[in-house]
Amino acid sequence: SESKLQLIQRHIRAFPDFPKKGILFRDICPILKNPASLTAVIDLLEEHVRKNHPRVDVIVGLDARGFLFGPPLALRLGLGFILVRKKGKLPGATVSVSYELEYSKAEVEIQEDAVAAGQRVLIIDDLLATGGTMLAACELMRKRQAEVLGCMVVVELRDLNGADRLKPHQVFSLVQY
Ligand code: PRP
Ligand code: HPA
Repeated sequence: SESKLQLIQRHIRAFPDFPKKGILFRDICPILKNPASLTAVIDLLEEHVRKNHPRVDVIVGLDARGFLFGPPLALRLGLGFILVRKKGKLPGATVSVSYELEYSKAEVEIQEDAVAAGQRVLIIDDLLATGGTMLAACELMRKRQAEVLGCMVVVELRDLNGADRLKPHQVFSLVQY
């Protein structure tokens, strides 16, 4: 019968030339539309965390699609969830890190009291492309003296070498293109 991984792969679509000409956009919306495939994603992520990172304290998710997978995973593990948001969305005192995009700059931030010094975190997003966003999130954790145990994504675009850029942090992905 079909494996969990096959079920997940079957619910990822590719759109050529979105959002710009030359980009093949991997769309994870069908995973969320199908409860069995979303369950399979959370099952496999939970399995990875229980086996490799049993001492994790908290799950950190990236704006916006990391917010789709992070909270259900955190609930499975009995852990809390922390939001890394794009600049200007979070109230109160924040810590921010800026990073380079293709033609511009972006900035991500967390609330200053979101994570405590010494806490062990796993960071989750839907997809790893250049790794710039994930790297900025790791830098946020470093600034707050939290320990990044690893980075997790549903989809990894291997050609863009994001995992190399994130070294020595480890990247775990379910589906690779
Ligand atoms: C996408 C994706 C990742 C990031 C990956 O988010 O969800 O967060 O880009 O790219 P990178 O590895 O090159 O940094 P996007 O910035 O499109 O924002 P959204 O989730 O708010 O749509
Ligand atoms: N799909 C979704 N998000 C992305 C992609 C993609 O192919 N590339 C960069 N962010």
